[in-house]
Amino acid sequence: MILISGATGNVGGELLRQLRAEGAAVRALTRDPARAGFPPDVDVVEGDFVTPQSLAKALSGVEALFLMMSGNEAAVLEEAARAGVRRIVLLSTMAVETRPDSFIGKVHQEAESAVEESGLEWTFLRPGQFASNTRSWAAQLAAGDVVRTPYAQVALPAVHSGDIAAVARTALTQDGHAGAAYALTGPAPITPVEQVAAIGEAIGRKLRHEEITPERAQEAMAAHMPAEIVAATLEFLGSPTVAETQALPTVETVTGKPARTFAEWARDNADSFR
Ligand SMILES: NC(=O)c1ccc[n+]([C@@H]2O[C@H](COP(=O)([O-])OP(=O)(O)OC[C@H]3O[C@@H](n4cnc5c(N)ncnc54)[C@H](OP(=O)(O)O)[C@@H]3O)[C@@H](O)[C@H]2O)c1
Repeated sequence: MILISGATGNVGGELLRQLRAEGAAVRALTRDPARAGFPPDVDVVEGDFVTPQSLAKALSGVEALFLMMSGNEAAVLEEAARAGVRRIVLLSTMAVETRPDSFIGKVHQEAESAVEESGLEWTFLRPGQFASNTRSWAAQLAAGDVVRTPYAQVALPAVHSGDIAAVARTALTQDGHAGAAYALTGPAPITPVEQVAAIGEAIGRKLRHEEITPERAQEAMAAHMPAEIVAATLEFLGSPTVAETQALPTVETVTGKPARTFAEWARDNADSFR
């Protein structure tokens, strides 16, 4: 049995669909099954990383766990080990390598260290920027045909959550990935201007990008994100390191299938913008 945390989220949701499609025994973890909206035949169990004792039922009979970072890894992993889990695939971040002193790099490094210290078999997924971050533009697109972002011409190789999930699925279900840390990206760098055009194409609307200052973006983001995350996100979007701008072959190396483009992500998720 494979337990998927974050199963209502971008990556965990894709992972749940992919594992079910291949007939794997899989269970979804959520803090609120009633809100999760899974199909009726999904094995869904309530649990919260904040209170690891709440995970006992979800972990029963589980051999492999897809783990979202929570800040409470040591206690969660103790509970997992007690339940007999053997294999952990942790959703970490590229920032662990590219900006280890940043807030995001540090909290994920702590999560990775806790997993290493658990004594369980592990694989780390270290994606760069998610294509799904552009979902935050949906409200702007509901109000009109203009998307306003800073850093209009900074290109990053945004990764499809389905490809992160495909790497997770491989590491959860096949041997040979223990002790590996996979940096994951999309197939090519893409700017916000190009992302807006790709979403327009996917939904059949002529969209326009308008550049705003980082200060204005910061004000808008601060309304729904903690200040350290806003600062770290803007730093990442505006001043990427050379490594963060480079497309890597890891998705294809691990899964045998090339990483999907941002245009494919936009077509696969067009309903998010309609
Ligand atoms: N966005 C990026 O560009 C980026 C880049 C690199 C790495 N990452 C990593 O990716 C993660 C986000 O992945 P995502 O986009 O797939 O997630 P997401 O869509 O933001 O969803 C978050 C998930 O975490 C679950 N969750 C939250 N708190 C929980 C708790 N206390 N106990 C159990 N489950 C909890 C939620 O489940 P319920 O609400 O159903 O309980 C939900 O399914 C980040 O945390 C970061 O570590 C992101």
